[in-house]
Amino acid sequence: MLKDKHLLKLEDYPKEDIQNIIETAFTFREVLDRPIKKVPSLKGITVVNLFFENSTRTRISFELAQKRLSADTVNFSAPTSSLKKGESFKDTAQNIEAMKIDAVVMRHPTPGAPKHLTDFIDAVVINAGDGTHEHPTQAILDMMSLKEKFGYIKGLNVGIIGDINHSRVARSNIYGLVTMGANVTLCGPPNLIPDNIINLGVKVNYNIDEVIEWADAVNVLRIQRERMGIGIIPSEREYRTLFGVTEERLARRGNELVIMHPGPMNRGVEIDDRVADSDQAIILDQVLNGVASRMSILYLLLGSKEEG
Ligand code: CP
Repeated sequence: MLKDKHLLKLEDYPKEDIQNIIETAFTFREVLDRPIKKVPSLKGITVVNLFFENSTRTRISFELAQKRLSADTVNFSAPTSSLKKGESFKDTAQNIEAMKIDAVVMRHPTPGAPKHLTDFIDAVVINAGDGTHEHPTQAILDMMSLKEKFGYIKGLNVGIIGDINHSRVARSNIYGLVTMGANVTLCGPPNLIPDNIINLGVKVNYNIDEVIEWADAVNVLRIQRERMGIGIIPSEREYRTLFGVTEERLARRGNELVIMHPGPMNRGVEIDDRVADSDQAIILDQVLNGVASRMSILYLLLGSKEEG
């Protein structure tokens, strides 16, 4: 039902498949509003969640999506596995597949690790975030949330604010939004925006006030302390002063700006408390749409397998 067997990235991903995933996600969103939030769509399918890196939203969201679709779901945690005894990534993956599983949802700190996994196993692989490379399911849920809010994506002005260099969320959003016809402007410290990024069809503006004035929605990125070297930003206080999405900045704009954040948030750094908790923030809608988007992706990648 989708062109690719796996979902590894949104770079070069077909527009019609993104549209299909988002439209199908809205039908699953209705399921999530029912008293009994479960459908039999993936009964008999087994999915392993293979997380080598911390996660709250993505892991729970995938697990919930699998349960809502009646799939059997198994969670793998690297710190308590035989990887700790020296077993290789390849052996771990092949042993898991030998147990007759249908799909692997994988988060890994190394860019390209989910693609590498497809060399060892036949199961469907879904990238749940690979280092600084991509986080395709996050971008799908972000686009679904924009579609829900505005009714369309094409022609929307979307600002992505923060540490673009280290952000897999930014990269997948850029690919997805440009494919869907949105206008994308990136904003952040110059040393955290790659030089050649405009080749991806986006603009760069280092003035956050201009971006806030121009945008219909902004996606505010987390300052990724764990991926940054020392001295990349002078201080969190200075970052907030120059690039923080604050109440004062939003007040200078006449009408409401839609605020998004993939989480986890650094409140008081890239986003102020009152902005994050305001009515113009759709951050928790993004989380709910994450379950519906992942149901859609799992269904479209695995649904025909169950029927066949
Ligand atoms: N947005 C996101 O990927 O959050 P987690 O790291 O909590 O999964």
